[in-house]
Amino acid sequence: MESISIKTAEDIAGMRIAGKLASEVLDYITPFVKVGITTGEIDQLCHEYMTNVQGTIPAPLNYCPPGYTPYPKAICTSVNDVICHGIPGDKVLKSGDSVNLDITVIKNGYHGDTSRMFLVGEPSILSKRLSEITYECMWLGIAKIKPGAHLGDIGHVIQQHAEKAGYSVVREFCGHGIGKIFHEAPQVMHYGKPGTMERLEAGMIFTVEPMINAGRREIREMGDGWTIRTKDRSLSAQWEHTVLVTETGYEVLTMSEGYPELPDFIKNHQG
Ligand code: MF3
Ligand code: CO
Ligand code: CO
Repeated sequence: MESISIKTAEDIAGMRIAGKLASEVLDYITPFVKVGITTGEIDQLCHEYMTNVQGTIPAPLNYCPPGYTPYPKAICTSVNDVICHGIPGDKVLKSGDSVNLDITVIKNGYHGDTSRMFLVGEPSILSKRLSEITYECMWLGIAKIKPGAHLGDIGHVIQQHAEKAGYSVVREFCGHGIGKIFHEAPQVMHYGKPGTMERLEAGMIFTVEPMINAGRREIREMGDGWTIRTKDRSLSAQWEHTVLVTETGYEVLTMSEGYPELPDFIKNHQG
């Protein structure tokens, strides 16, 4: 296994700034995510905000991992049965749609990566429950983070919570180390067994970003080379944070003023 970098104090300071800025893009766009807007308009607004207001660079734009074509937009917009990497375009949001907006900014060379779910108009009971369970999955995973814990501890709680609700965990995509590089070691699986995989140390930074399907876990890749959908066309949800391992536990780097309410099990255990 490729080794996991330990960030310096300077790196951590840079990652705090990038993380907060990424979250602030989502705060900014929230009031615009309404019936009638297109995913392309959301992308354009976010792109302008990053460039003109924040002075950040959208990391997805022209991002080109091996075997891919360059990603054509500034953000990812994944609607309903799209699991991840949805490309913004002419799609008009309608009442009942659920959409994940995934933002990665670069500031002073450092990456901040975060995503949230948005329920448009009158949400269905299913989409609301799926988003809530996925949010809990992410936070349950984050709550496991401390020196000496293992990545498998995170995956295990996420998988347990999702499957107990009758949902499934996507296997093909995972969380990742992040810093000056967008995607680096380790791979953070959203399923697994306690005590397995890499052991955590203070100074590591990685994302936790579970993708949870209402139906089966299998995926389909679209012809655009990026968009990933559920094979059975069931709904999918995702939430994402960038997290630092501290001496005593964790620090979520992708927080801001407009962040949604924390789950009770987090609120009650913070200071
Ligand atoms: N932001 C995504 C992640 O969480 C990666 C998107 S890659 C892109 O890892 F090129 F599609 F933007
Ligand atoms: Co992301
Ligand atoms: Co990520």
